[in-house]
Amino acid sequence: MRHLSLLTLFVGDDNQLEVEQLIRSCSNPASSLASTVRVVGASATGEDTIRQVEDLRPDVVLLGQSLPDMLGLDVAQRLLRACPGTVVFLAAESTSIDLYQRAMNVGVREVLQKPLDPVRVGAVIARVVEEERRRRAEWLDREGVRAPGRSVAAEPGEQQSVRAGHPVVALRQEVVVFCSPKGGVGKTTLAVSSAAALAQPRFPNLRVLLVDLDLQFGDVASVLGVPGNVSIADWAAARVPPDDLQAVEARLAYHKPSGLWVLPAPENPVDASQVDAATVKTVVEAGRRHFDAIVFDLGTDLSDAAVVALDMATRIFILTTLDLVTMREVVKLGDILRQMGVDPGKVKLLVSRAPRRPDLGADELKTLATRTGYPVVGRIPEADGVLRAVNRQELPLFVRTEGPFPQSLKRVLQSVLPVFGADGRARRSPGELLGRGLLKLRKEGGLGRR
Ligand SMILES: Nc1ncnc2c1ncn2[C@@H]1O[C@H](COP(=O)(O)OP(=O)(O)OP(=O)(O)O)[C@@H](O)[C@H]1O
Ligand SMILES: [Mg+2]
Repeated sequence: MRHLSLLTLFVGDDNQLEVEQLIRSCSNPASSLASTVRVVGASATGEDTIRQVEDLRPDVVLLGQSLPDMLGLDVAQRLLRACPGTVVFLAAESTSIDLYQRAMNVGVREVLQKPLDPVRVGAVIARVVEEERRRRAEWLDREGVRAPGRSVAAEPGEQQSVRAGHPVVALRQEVVVFCSPKGGVGKTTLAVSSAAALAQPRFPNLRVLLVDLDLQFGDVASVLGVPGNVSIADWAAARVPPDDLQAVEARLAYHKPSGLWVLPAPENPVDASQVDAATVKTVVEAGRRHFDAIVFDLGTDLSDAAVVALDMATRIFILTTLDLVTMREVVKLGDILRQMGVDPGKVKLLVSRAPRRPDLGADELKTLATRTGYPVVGRIPEADGVLRAVNRQELPLFVRTEGPFPQSLKRVLQSVLPVFGADGRARRSPGELLGRGLLKLRKEGGLGRR
């Protein structure tokens, strides 16, 4: 089983000894802190902390109040303005009601008394995680499993959630749908590639569930080469408890090379009829609890199952090619989505299998955007490497290469998905960051060699 993502912690404090102790405790498998928190970086100054936190976007920041260049409280204020949704703790040698009140006013979550004791820090973080878990569960209950019109990540504070029963925090939750009224335009290719890109260690590194909702002719399992012994048809009968991560994972296929969790379409098209709206709701409910992103590959028909996915989506990509026949069908699909009450803000047009020359089809695209009212967010070129990667069952790895197809796809994902910061920068892998953060700190003389 893959390791679940942990809370990421950044420490801004100039007490070298305490910081080192905390870092050691987080990486000691025997410590309870190690199963909750991963330190992604540390700094001894306020300015550098702000810079690094904006870059690294950790879930939690622990700040010393008396930094050499700034007060921790001022650092907290600037951080929370730049990165709302971050959980900030302040640690001070002497705490007072006044400091506590000022800290709460700027949005600090808790004031801790110095010296920092890793066990106590762990307990406080665990408590906050538990509060977030409860808040998240309440939110899910209140909303049912229907997504609001905006992305659930759009609101600060909704950024954090906890997979029930696990002291872990999902980054942000995206439900992304790839659809088109036409066959063969690249829905599966882009759904698989996008899911793999989102799960990529140096991209946002999310836990991603890829669901094949082309119920009769779905080919995600064969594109990936994962066994078809599990399928979404099983979910219809199985009543998988959404909270139980093990039960959920047991009904998914795992694609090891990419790290994707996959829910294939039924192997036998006859079983497609078992999958209905309730099945998809169950899948999304479980997916929301245990995964950062769910990616749906739809067929061309608007089955009940597809309608639920569209309804619950935070982002819908309508794929089009540049021929007029497809574009006319896209206009019709756009009208249907509006009639369904789908929030237009989450719908984007994406050109697939585009000719390299950018002027080709440019006028037609402008007309399409005007007719549908949806923006065109990118052109994914027809690329030789795609076919080669599909035939070798290496499509998810193709996004790790350079070249026009992976580059243009990543640009689209970065510009459209809220999982990336406003500046389009993704969170990076905690392991990589820990190395970088510590290296940086040592270079700046903040920490001695260990
Ligand atoms: N950008 C691309 N460059 C080159 N080939 C591509 C590209 N996108 C898709 N293809 C190829 O086009 C064919 C159809 O792609 P894909 O199966 O992804 O389309 P689809 O919309 O899912 O089709 P269906 O409606 O049958 O499910 C495949 O052979 C795929 O390899
Ligand atoms: Mg397909």
